[in-house]
Amino acid sequence: MIECRNIHKSYGAIAVLKGISISVAQGETFALIGPNGAGKTTFFKVLTGETPANSGSILFKGEEISRLNASARVHRGFGRTFQVARILPGNTVLENLVIAVEARLRNQGHRSGFGLAPGREIVEEAASMARRTDLDDKLHQLASFLSHGDRKRLELGITLSLRPSVLMMDEPTAGMSPSDRRQTIDIILKLRAEEKLTILLTEHDMDVVFGLSDRIMVMNQGEPVAVGTIGEIRTNAAVREIYLGQDDHDA
Ligand SMILES: Nc1ncnc2c1ncn2[C@@H]1O[C@H](COP(=O)(O)OP(=O)(O)OP(=O)(O)O)[C@@H](O)[C@H]1O
Ligand SMILES: [Mg+2]
Repeated sequence: MIECRNIHKSYGAIAVLKGISISVAQGETFALIGPNGAGKTTFFKVLTGETPANSGSILFKGEEISRLNASARVHRGFGRTFQVARILPGNTVLENLVIAVEARLRNQGHRSGFGLAPGREIVEEAASMARRTDLDDKLHQLASFLSHGDRKRLELGITLSLRPSVLMMDEPTAGMSPSDRRQTIDIILKLRAEEKLTILLTEHDMDVVFGLSDRIMVMNQGEPVAVGTIGEIRTNAAVREIYLGQDDHDA
């Protein structure tokens, strides 16, 4: 599904990604972990086209996409959520989801009646996504009044309304309470099965990483440290060394 080879990225003189390669199969959940500043978010941005790499190639379903801009990649099936959730704060939960469904329909070439009331099917699809993300009791609440966990779930619903084939999540449970976190893992597991998603995520919480991932890549200071299954990563000496003494991480 995704094949990245030897990605290098610098900001000015500072090398942030120093030769990152990954290969993610269809239906796989792949986690990128590593200490703060390792380059995880930067790698996400390179994959989605928000920032160009200096060198390296990105194949998506066999197609070289490095030169495509971000919106062209969304059309190809990339969907992502952000470390800080991106939602429309002045709109209700339902409106946020309706707008996302309408955006997908426009992307698919449907003519939009911009400014008109959305059709019944669109509202039903948006309401169904609210149900699937446990927001159905908050349909008419303004997004700005949602709790942190609800915002993150709304953002997930917005992203999935675009029907991506790859879902990229940058710290999906950052700042959540343990119960919010469990709820979010359950939702992701359910949606993943229903939508047959390929998932790429970054996360500092190891319960989330181990609860979702098929394979994990550990990065440190822009370099790959190890790639493997949960068992392989747990017992990897270099990984243990990186995380040793890091009180703010759960590893
Ligand atoms: N736009 C930018 N300009 C200059 N330096 C940047 C920029 N974005 C990121 N960096 C630097 O690149 C390095 C990697 O940052 P990045 O945000 O990718 O790390 P991260 O692994 O996502 O960290 P965290 O776990 O804290 O989210 C950091 O040293 C950061 O300061
Ligand atoms: Mg980050």
